Amino acid sequence: MALLALTGASGRIATALRPRLRAAGHHLVLVDGPGVPLRDVDPATERAVESDLRDVDTQAEAFAGADLVVHLGAHSDERAWADILAVNIDGTHAVCEAARLAGVPRLLLASSVHAAGFVPVDAPLVREGMPLPAPDTYYGVSKAALEALGGLYAGRFGMTVVSARIMTFDDAPGGPRSLQSWLSPDDMTRLVLATLTTGAVGHHVVWGVSRNTRRRVDLAPGLAIGFDPQDDAEVHASGVERRDPSRPPGVLGGAFADAAYLLGVPHGGTRPAP
Ligand SMILES: NC(=O)c1ccc[n+]([C@@H]2O[C@H](COP(=O)([O-])OP(=O)(O)OC[C@H]3O[C@@H](n4cnc5c(N)ncnc54)[C@H](O)[C@@H]3O)[C@@H](O)[C@H]2O)c1
Repeated sequence: MALLALTGASGRIATALRPRLRAAGHHLVLVDGPGVPLRDVDPATERAVESDLRDVDTQAEAFAGADLVVHLGAHSDERAWADILAVNIDGTHAVCEAARLAGVPRLLLASSVHAAGFVPVDAPLVREGMPLPAPDTYYGVSKAALEALGGLYAGRFGMTVVSARIMTFDDAPGGPRSLQSWLSPDDMTRLVLATLTTGAVGHHVVWGVSRNTRRRVDLAPGLAIGFDPQDDAEVHASGVERRDPSRPPGVLGGAFADAAYLLGVPHGGTRPAP
């Protein structure tokens, strides 16, 4: 049994993780903003804490004794620069600092494909390796900053940090792009458990993606920390293609990288239009 602290605990990904992590025998500290409702907290295995992401002291107290902090809290869509700076960049710094002060040895940081949204899907470092950041939005810039903070806290304080460039998290692939990019809830759970148990040290940038037949990105960086995804979007392909036969885009960020998607304006969700 390990103790895991989750920020953004009432969000979509944390809500899917909670029952799976409890089923794996772990206890959870659930952190979300003041007044944000958390559903069905199990008092035997879960403890809820209200804290803004920028509150170092409250989060350090919440993280005490945790083996891993899974940092999911964020504006998970494009926003005005001031909002992205405050919540996604200052907030991530505060979470890292709180984890350090609490002596937490491991961090899983939710990065995004939009940190590298302008990278062409057929670029060599997509097939093999990991491309440098090429953000497609202010949101993407904040995820590149999150990765930089991950590198800082691993290098300076000896923490094991995994920055996961999550592609498209969903119960099932919802459009043609996600036949490449889907991350299933069970594979997201595998990513958390790999970060909890990996013997790898330092900072690792990995793709948060399932073992999709059509994926363009490299699983090797994830395999290096023990993240071995099992699900494949292909089993949903015929239904997805019947609904929407359009072709996947040429850059990793998809519609977020489109000129029609204005900087600083919410796009309506973490799932880019196909
Ligand atoms: N869902 C995806 O497909 C996807 C893809 C790439 C990256 N990500 C990243 O994964 C993480 C989780 O995604 P999600 O879909 O669960 O997001 P979500 O929007 O459902 O949840 C985000 C959570 O962060 C909390 N939050 C926002 N501002 C806060 C603040 N100031 N203080 C405290 N809490 C605050 C919200 O209350 C919410 O519970 C995010 O960082 C997101 O950017 C998600």
